[in-house]
Amino acid sequence: MRELAEYPPQVEAHGTFWTPEKLRGCVMKRALMIVAWMCWIGWSWIAFAELPRSPLYLVGVGPGDPDLITLRAIEAIRHADIIYCTDGLEKKFADYLAGKQVITGYWRLFEYYGQDINSLPEAEQPRARALAEKRNDFISQVRQAVARGKVVAILDSGDPLIYGPWAWCLEEFADLKPVVVPGVSCFNAGNAALRRGVTNAPKTKSVILTANDWPGKTDTVESLSVHRATMVIFTMRAEFDYFIEKLKTHYPPETPVAIVKYAGYQGKEEVIEGTLATIREQVDPKSLPFEYLIYVGDFLTYRQKAPARVSAANPSAVGSVSAGTSVSTR
Ligand SMILES: C[S@@+](CC[C@H](N)C(=O)[O-])C[C@H]1O[C@@H](n2cnc3c(N)ncnc32)[C@H](O)[C@@H]1O
Repeated sequence: MRELAEYPPQVEAHGTFWTPEKLRGCVMKRALMIVAWMCWIGWSWIAFAELPRSPLYLVGVGPGDPDLITLRAIEAIRHADIIYCTDGLEKKFADYLAGKQVITGYWRLFEYYGQDINSLPEAEQPRARALAEKRNDFISQVRQAVARGKVVAILDSGDPLIYGPWAWCLEEFADLKPVVVPGVSCFNAGNAALRRGVTNAPKTKSVILTANDWPGKTDTVESLSVHRATMVIFTMRAEFDYFIEKLKTHYPPETPVAIVKYAGYQGKEEVIEGTLATIREQVDPKSLPFEYLIYVGDFLTYRQKAPARVSAANPSAVGSVSAGTSVSTR
């Protein structure tokens, strides 16, 4: 028979090896292991479940500064071996593109896609043929790369499916089941620059995204203006005066208008606000860059709260919600 003094103290105290401290430590350890395991499962889910696998990605990389790219776009670039993009995007995303085969020089290949060149006016045919040749060259490069087991990513600014020049690829390479990575559009960055809810107006709730009145399109700026809803024009080098004249057909002259230049570029972004009646005097069309949007609609001056009254005691209060004229750089 052993003396009581020979037993370890915890046995002596509790009649078991598990002291409350040991038990607490063990429970804590298990809890930490469960949390770590859950984090790992969560991380794997985020890293792998969000990017479906495909040999071909069409990736929206956002407008403006490079930090408007998404995590998913970065993941798609990381996963790709060959990248097609513009010189500008190559420069902007140099960090992500390091070590990739980057191919530039293929751009605006959408023109005449799917059209019978012989049915075009004769004067257009040489240009259409030259474009078709370049497009076919690009198509065979992509097909050969995929056949060699390579992953190809095409980068496009903003969102690739809003006036995106690469949308035709989804039809051409449908058999490869390409994956589209959505991007932040310049439309989103423009809304942010304006700091207004584009769907919040006194009488309307819709937004029309439109562009120049290209031949054959029936949804002209003039016909869309009938609704007096918010309208956002992707200008793409079309004539500024043409847009303003067409808008004036159905929107009253006092309708607020805003020009957003360089949306999403900190320090470079600029907003010019006026009305359909004043904007032409405020803006020199020759000074407008490629990257600018025209916004039209009452949302620009709409305030849900009644405006404060201007009084002697509060001379700086906003006294009116009618459209003024202003220029601001963000
Ligand atoms: C071919 S579209 C491309 C739009 C792009 N897919 C997007 O979702 O942002 C080009 C037109 O978009 C507008 N745009 C593109 N980037 C812009 C920016 N950072 N700020 C203002 N407008 C921009 C301009 O009207 C430009 O002419």
